[in-house]
Formats: sequence, C-alpha cells, structure tokens
Amino acid sequence: MMESYIQAGKIVSDIRSEASKMIKDGALVIDLVEYVESEILKRGAEIAFPCNVSINEIAAHYTSPANDKTQFKAGDMVKLDLGAMVDGYIADSAVTVLAEGNMDENYTQDEINLHEEIIEASAAGLEAAIATVRAGAELSKIGAAVHEAIGEYNLNPIFNLTGHSLEQNNLHAGISIPNYDNHDNYKLDEGQAIAIEPFATNGEGIVNDAPGHYIFAYLANKPFRMKSTQKVLKYIQTNNPYVPFSGRWITDEFGERRGNIALKQLSEAMAIYPYAPLREKKDCFVSQKEHTVVVEKEGCTVTTI
Ligand code: CO
Repeated sequence: MMESYIQAGKIVSDIRSEASKMIKDGALVIDLVEYVESEILKRGAEIAFPCNVSINEIAAHYTSPANDKTQFKAGDMVKLDLGAMVDGYIADSAVTVLAEGNMDENYTQDEINLHEEIIEASAAGLEAAIATVRAGAELSKIGAAVHEAIGEYNLNPIFNLTGHSLEQNNLHAGISIPNYDNHDNYKLDEGQAIAIEPFATNGEGIVNDAPGHYIFAYLANKPFRMKSTQKVLKYIQTNNPYVPFSGRWITDEFGERRGNIALKQLSEAMAIYPYAPLREKKDCFVSQKEHTVVVEKEGCTVTTI
C-alpha cells in the first residue's frame, strides 16, 4: 500500500513540474490538461480525477471541455491540480504559478508583487500544516496552522474549501482537513493518507458555484428511455465508477451533442453528480498548494514532494 502511494506520488510530482512549464502566455489550457492526463496513463497509473486548471478568481473544478479555446494570459494566476492512482492508491497535488510572458502588459508591478505573495501564502499554509501532522494531531490544529500562516500575509484562506482523506479508489474518503480552526477535534491515525490543500486569497475567503459543469462523478444506476443516455451511463459505470471524470472524456467518446445531452439528463436524474467551478465571492485572486501525506507516529511522509 505504502509502495503504491509513493509510486503514485512520484508520478504526480514529475508530471507537475513538467506541466508547470507549459503555463505561458498564449498556450491553450486544453493542451495542458491533455498533456497531464496522457502522461499519467503513459506512466502506467490511472487518472484519479480530471486535471483541474483554474485561473485567477476560479479556485477549483475547472477542466477544459472539448475544443476549449481558453488561453493563458501573461500574469494569470494558474492553479494546476492533478491526481494519479496506482492500485487505487491516490496522489493528489496542486501548485500555483503566474503564467509566463509580459505580465506588465496586464498588471502593474504592485499587482504582480501582490499576486506573488498570494502564491507564497498558500505555500506557507501548506508547510505549516505539514509540520503539525502526526498520529494523534487534531484536525482543528492543522486548520489553525494554515490560517495563521496565511494571516501573516494579511490574506485569507478559503474557509469553505478543505483537504480530504484518501482511501483506495476513494478521493474524498470522509474526513475534511480544514483551512482554519473549525473546532473539529478528530485525531489523525497512523497510516492514514490525507491531501492537504490550503487556498489563499486577497478576497473574503469564500467560494461560490460558477456557471458550467466540466467535472462529474458517478452516483447511482437509474433507468433511462433514451438509448444514447443509457450507453453513456454504462460507459461511466465501466470506466469511472469510483473517481471523478471529465465531460470532455464523454464528448470525445460519444460526440459533443449526444454526450452533452446525456450528461445533462444523468445529472438531472442524479445518476451522476455535476461539480460546478468554484469562484471567489469578491472575484479576487486565489492560489492553492497541495500535497498528499501519509500520517506517521512522529510526523508524516509527503508522497508528492
Ligand atoms: Co485534493
């Protein structure tokens, strides 16, 4: 089990650093997500969730739909969040970078400096969190460490986003790792795997649903009259029964029209769950940094370092 966590972590870490170099003015978001997803498969792992690429005020849960024309602009605050599975054991990691290019065409130097601090703050939050992790550590203490570290930059964490426990084939295994002291006195166990993911913002620190659905998860079997919708559901049950999948994978397989109709019908019937992109309430900038760790008696092993 530990071997698989380590192997998945190494794959995610390697791809994360290669992929980060693709975040440049004029580059297409879809090229980045397709690179990440194909590399995971090439290295013999499975995709734990669609590669998320969330820009500026979008905190999470955006991935390219088919034919996405979205390009990076110099200075965009880009969160790259990826996950791989080996034997169902998951590595989940995210990093934030400013898109390369002539940033001063889009932002003042003061703005660029602020954006760099926002990125530094989530990294400091993650570092502080990891330093508190050990068997017996209370979740509220981890959250408090994150909040305090980000607060030192006069910034806010995103209060309504959390990290999560991981189990075999289960990306959100029931325990939430807060980014502030939420008074949860649950204590971590030795051997438990968790993804810790502080977000930092110059806004209020609340995210709300934004329009569109790009990422979905299978919920339950339901009967459908339309043949093509039945076929899509069967496909999801076969290929993505446990972890989230991309709408793009469905439209690539079934065509945009049929795929999108099916995704809508399946969502309405609660056969699948549609994730909305999450946007900061004041449309302020958001950074994220995430690692997966396995809890030990006197600390933890970071698998995605
Ligand atoms: Co995560």
